[in-house]
Amino acid sequence: MSKQITAILIGAGDRGADTYGEYALENPESIKFIAVAEPQKTRRKKFVERHKISEKNSFESWEPLLEKEKLADVALIMTQDQMHYEPAIKAMKQGYDVLLEKPMATTLKESKSLVDVSGETGKILHICHGLRYAPFFSIIKSIIDSGTIGEVVNISLRENVSPFHYAHSYIRGNWHNREKSSPMILAKSCHDMDILLWFAGKKVQRISSFGSQKFFGNKNMPEGAPEFCIKGCPAEKTCLYNAPRIYLYITPLLQIGAKSSKGLEKFIVKSVLKFPKLTNLPLFRKVKNYSEWPISTISTDMSWEGKIKALNETNYGKCVFKMDDHDVVDHQVVNIEFENQTTATFTLHGFSNEEGRTIRVDGTKGTIIGEFLASGDNIILYDHLTNKKISVRKTGRLIGHGGGDEGIMETFLKSVKSEIKHDVMTNARASLESHLMAFAADIARLEKRVVEMEEIR
Ligand SMILES: NC(=O)c1ccc[n+]([C@@H]2O[C@H](COP(=O)([O-])OP(=O)(O)OC[C@H]3O[C@@H](n4cnc5c(N)ncnc54)[C@H](O)[C@@H]3O)[C@@H](O)[C@H]2O)c1
Repeated sequence: MSKQITAILIGAGDRGADTYGEYALENPESIKFIAVAEPQKTRRKKFVERHKISEKNSFESWEPLLEKEKLADVALIMTQDQMHYEPAIKAMKQGYDVLLEKPMATTLKESKSLVDVSGETGKILHICHGLRYAPFFSIIKSIIDSGTIGEVVNISLRENVSPFHYAHSYIRGNWHNREKSSPMILAKSCHDMDILLWFAGKKVQRISSFGSQKFFGNKNMPEGAPEFCIKGCPAEKTCLYNAPRIYLYITPLLQIGAKSSKGLEKFIVKSVLKFPKLTNLPLFRKVKNYSEWPISTISTDMSWEGKIKALNETNYGKCVFKMDDHDVVDHQVVNIEFENQTTATFTLHGFSNEEGRTIRVDGTKGTIIGEFLASGDNIILYDHLTNKKISVRKTGRLIGHGGGDEGIMETFLKSVKSEIKHDVMTNARASLESHLMAFAADIARLEKRVVEMEEIR
């Protein structure tokens, strides 16, 4: 059915406006936003203009929008973690099918209640677990399902976060404090729990976990470091987390770009890394003017002056070793036993040479080894009997969470149009199960014990 779906957006930030809003502009036959709720004036105005939304359908917060009678087919709820539950419940009760960002909620009770309300109202609750739609993971799933590697015995998955990303999101940014957002294992890794669940094909029996914040805090603060790096830090040349290094000179992004296969891009990046002042010349100016993630998060003013102001006034400019309320882990391991005796280990940390996930799936007849990195995908399949090695997939640099973001929207819209209330790919119950795994890992880590899943289901 080629019906255009109408939508309301709650939260016109990075995900709402820049990911799903852009999808709608690129696919106008599929979806059109007709209302928005967003407290930040600049963001709201930009969204209203780009999507040609009438003034009467532009709101400063979600409450008045959801007080109104149902305006559209679906509601996209793209607010911060702590503000998912209430608008999602209200939207389903108002008759909207809902696309909700992960984590679905920040507590066990609220996560369960969301699924109950989806059942009671018969409304779709689709959680943005995009990894299932990234070709990298769907290919591995199809190899597992084909039986090529026999019975899966063990899975080992790592989420390797690079230092600049960890500092940006989990020290300076929105997810630095578990009370204000959620535990990192939920915020960052409910995706990974979802993948493990999907690959194992059975529910989890029990979980244990260890982890802490090992590196940050005053103990590792460079001597004489000011509160804001830009004021002149004695360690500015050696500190990985120096704010101007990340947000003005975008060194970590350039280091990723230096691996580019595109000749001109590689030349520009390598030249600027060697001679930063080149950014004043026209050919190299796009480095100075760079305004995509993570720079886009620090301010709505992306001029050089706007960026400097943000580094003088916001958490994004602060010394990472002086952030008092940074309490999320910087490394965590999780051990999982599934109901079919398959075991899995998951490692999350913020100290990786390259951003991305790595996986190994060992079966009775073969092994799959994969890399899902900022620089591209690589999947290799090994057959135990013949000892043969097959390269299944090798790609260059990927965007949009490795292709997952488009897949989320396409599947959500498909299930809305065909009125499949519980999509087999990422239905609310499967998402709940992966959230339960993250909550169990958090309890296990804090209470230093094995958590039986039946305790919390
Ligand atoms: N699926 C993924 O891969 C993925 C990736 C990144 C982030 N996320 C999740 O997406 C969500 C949004 O993240 P983001 O990076 O876009 O955050 P963001 O802060 O850029 O966007 C959230 C927006 O909500 C707005 N908001 C605040 N109060 C509001 C209210 N009362 N009514 C309406 N809007 C309100 C904010 O002003 C902001 O613009 C988070 O829960 C995050 O964990 C998911």
